[in-house]
Amino acid sequence: MKIKEWEGVALIIGSGDIGKSMSDYLSSIAPKMEVVACGRNVTCKNSIFLDLEDDKSFVSFENDLSLFKKPLRLVMNTSGFLHSDFIKPEKRLSHIKRSNIIKNFSINAIAPILIAKSIEKFIKPELPFLFASLSARVGSISDNRLGGRYSYRASKAAQNQFLKTLSIEWRRKFPLSIVSILHPGTCDTKLSKPFQSAVPKNKLFTPAQCSEYLMNILSCQTPSDSGKFIAWDGSEIEW
Ligand SMILES: NC(=O)c1ccc[n+]([C@@H]2O[C@H](COP(=O)([O-])OP(=O)(O)OC[C@H]3O[C@@H](n4cnc5c(N)ncnc54)[C@H](OP(=O)(O)O)[C@@H]3O)[C@@H](O)[C@H]2O)c1
Repeated sequence: MKIKEWEGVALIIGSGDIGKSMSDYLSSIAPKMEVVACGRNVTCKNSIFLDLEDDKSFVSFENDLSLFKKPLRLVMNTSGFLHSDFIKPEKRLSHIKRSNIIKNFSINAIAPILIAKSIEKFIKPELPFLFASLSARVGSISDNRLGGRYSYRASKAAQNQFLKTLSIEWRRKFPLSIVSILHPGTCDTKLSKPFQSAVPKNKLFTPAQCSEYLMNILSCQTPSDSGKFIAWDGSEIEW
């Protein structure tokens, strides 16, 4: 897909380190796209407030989208949750808590499919359209060799199933659409900070590197690739 030549609106959802960098990168390579940052802490001029855990916020998000005159062409979800001051990823079964599971599922699994539901009415079937969402390799069940991180792993696996199912429905409704489930690699962000010690320097990417790798991959996708789970280097990840 020639994303660089596309005209219309692109939404980058999630104002974290990869999200901000992705907005900058897309704006630089696709000058005819209006890139809009969506999230809770968006500060740039062209932005929409969206709290992914609040249904009312989704309603106002849809109202804001209805005001665009240009067609919606690309939506990338870069939001995610792994830890906070109060919630840490589980190292073992005894760390499991209902609140941790719910928080991870709320952001990593439920939010991506609610985003898809909100944007669906703005997709033009006659134009190529891309919906990409950041998952994580640890959401692969067959790749799980180390254990731990129960809630994060399970919530990303659930995201993968939601979006694979979405790709099947949208293949019928929007034959020119692509749904891509992406693993960005290990990226130097707030989310990965506490877990970077075991990562070799050359495997810890900057948000700018991740943005470039992922956008290059997306530019090579065609509708027949819709529903794939793909890593930063273009390799397909097993479910
Ligand atoms: N970094 C890595 O090494 C790595 C590896 C594999 C996968 N990933 C995935 O890549 C994605 C991006 O992660 P990142 O590293 O850029 O992390 P990040 O800097 O922590 O960004 C995550 C963003 O999600 C947003 N978010 C969380 N809850 C939200 C809500 N209720 N409403 C709106 N936004 C919300 C956060 O917004 P606030 O700023 O408002 O809190 C935050 O900006 C995540 O899905 C992550 O799982 C990252």
